[in-house]
Amino acid sequence: MELLDGKRIADQIKVEIASEVETIKRNGGTPPHLVAILVGHDGASETYVGHKEKACAQVGFKSQVLRFEDSITEVQLLEKIQKLNNNPDVDGFIVQMPLPKHIDEQKVIEAIDPKKDVDGFHPVNVGRMNIGLPAYVSATPDGIVELIRRYNIPTAGKHCVVLGRSNIVGRPIANLLSQKGYPGDCTVTICHSRTPNLKEFTTTADILIVALGKAEFVTAEMVKEGAVVIDVGITRVEAPGTKLGWKLLGDVKFNEVASKCSYITPVPGGVGPLTIVSLLKNTLKAAKKEVYG
Ligand code: GUN
Repeated sequence: MELLDGKRIADQIKVEIASEVETIKRNGGTPPHLVAILVGHDGASETYVGHKEKACAQVGFKSQVLRFEDSITEVQLLEKIQKLNNNPDVDGFIVQMPLPKHIDEQKVIEAIDPKKDVDGFHPVNVGRMNIGLPAYVSATPDGIVELIRRYNIPTAGKHCVVLGRSNIVGRPIANLLSQKGYPGDCTVTICHSRTPNLKEFTTTADILIVALGKAEFVTAEMVKEGAVVIDVGITRVEAPGTKLGWKLLGDVKFNEVASKCSYITPVPGGVGPLTIVSLLKNTLKAAKKEVYG
């Protein structure tokens, strides 16, 4: 069994990105510029945006957080987005979710110019990705693909079972791994909460991707010997006696599943660290005008 060390791969990719930024600057260019819009004071969102700012600094990007109070109206927020769409100094931007209830998240996503949508949430990017055109791919599926690629895990002809059908993980990763080429050419099955006899599917998986958000849902008897297991779950549970009083659990019962696997992601330290790197990769692509020309 080998651990898929997302932290190590993320650090490696950051070094590669930083070196590209150096080259851009050496050639007289300006570093990529990412803006994050943060509405309100949600603790988790503050933390995520803080991590994104730190990662930008690590690779030499210019970054900026635009903060607004919960009281901002939808119209006002849409105006801010238009300004960023029209600002040639900004290569890409994100609007941190969730937004307050009085703001329609889908409307906000669709207001972002797809050329600057480095989260890959705009339907134009989702659609382009689905038909195999250059696109900004959203962070989690891109992170999974990157992990598979960096570990040279064979995918052609493999049966990949995806647990979960969300628009941000299950559906896009199922699509990407079924596309032609590497990493892809998989036969993909999507399972979800209404799938009967889940074990019948999971035990046939060469690659099992779990994105259910149910702590320790996948047990050893559900996994085939030698499978590659990628765990996207992160659930915070109480852990009395630990320094923080809580810990993070994946969707896979790591302790009993790991010994059956050829590769498995730890939680934390698996897919998670690669999600921020995906945002950096997309911002670099935006600055280099690689996706839309
Ligand atoms: N909230 C949780 N994850 C994300 C993300 O990847 N992008 C944005 N914009 N909001 C989030």
